[in-house]
Amino acid sequence: MSKVYNFSAGPSMLPEEVMLKVQKEFLNYNGIGASVIEISHRSKDYIEIAEEATQNLRDLMNIPDNYQVLFMHGGGRGLFAGIPLNIASGKGSADYVVTGAWSGYAADEALKYTGVNRIEATKTLEDGTITVETANLPFSKDAEFAHYCLNETIHGIDLYDTLDCQNNNTVVDVSSCFLSRPIDVTKYGIVYGGAQKNIGPSGITIAIVRDDLVGRAREICPSILDFSVLAKNASMYNTPNTFAWYFAGEVFKWLKQLGGVEAMEKMNIEKANYLYGFIDSCDFYKNKIDPKFRSRMNVPFNLKDEALNAKFLEEAKQNNLISLKGHRVLGGMRASIYNAMPMEGVKSLVNFMEKFAKENN
Ligand SMILES: Cc1ncc(COP(=O)(O)O)c(C=O)c1O
Repeated sequence: MSKVYNFSAGPSMLPEEVMLKVQKEFLNYNGIGASVIEISHRSKDYIEIAEEATQNLRDLMNIPDNYQVLFMHGGGRGLFAGIPLNIASGKGSADYVVTGAWSGYAADEALKYTGVNRIEATKTLEDGTITVETANLPFSKDAEFAHYCLNETIHGIDLYDTLDCQNNNTVVDVSSCFLSRPIDVTKYGIVYGGAQKNIGPSGITIAIVRDDLVGRAREICPSILDFSVLAKNASMYNTPNTFAWYFAGEVFKWLKQLGGVEAMEKMNIEKANYLYGFIDSCDFYKNKIDPKFRSRMNVPFNLKDEALNAKFLEEAKQNNLISLKGHRVLGGMRASIYNAMPMEGVKSLVNFMEKFAKENN
């Protein structure tokens, strides 16, 4: 079968090398005669896997010692509740900057547990371009924390380092740009995200939490979401998703070998520039995001004639390019080009888009 490129937004394409290694050792991990998914999370072999993965993530992201690295349950959405339950008093409020669907969902969920000052930060210009207002946002002086989403997976908006929430307890959702470039963890109180895009299979969520934000959970916070319970138990308060944690560890090793997040950033810039460059050069396709805020991970685009959407998707599939349908909230198309997507995959997509435009213009 010829190579299929999968542009799914998550779960998404994972590095082939890692998939092959995992496949090879699946039935017999490290010569013990059992699969990694069959052994106890308390066994020596598994503890080694978990500790090595945690250390490799610390190395990759340069995570200082005063931050806990927690492997949690419940996905990004679990932490939409878990964050206010851990760090809001319930009597105050938090600033939530909204730049797309996911930061909006986070604000909606937080409202169950804290007051929310919802700050809408996107703006549509006269020519239809969608941009982000990063200066003079109405932050409140007494917000207990601030929250935003670094990369909006559905809208294809990335803030890069443009936002200063003026809050020492700034929390950032990095679900869809995790490990795609360096992030200065020390700028944040909490950095968190689900694994199912750049890190591994779904079912594990990573929270990197500064020590002073651990141990503040409200009484009503379920133990499974309580940072201090997770920290005290090395993320094994209950049975973790052992397979996803192990897989993540293999991805961390793969990334380290490739030169870490700095090398990955370079490749991601090249891939994104190639795709956006083509879209901009051709009036058959359009991406509406202000170039300053265009995501390097999720590239939404529309065809000039939306009536061609189904034909585009069908022919893309025949050309081994799958999962290009845009999110139901936005329609159109979306190409997610995470770390595991090689440049050849992006080139193959652009070749197809060029041919499709010529044939249907
Ligand atoms: C930026 C962002 N945050 C949060 C979520 C929710 O993640 P989960 O499905 O793991 O709850 C997603 C899911 O795609 C996302 O893209």
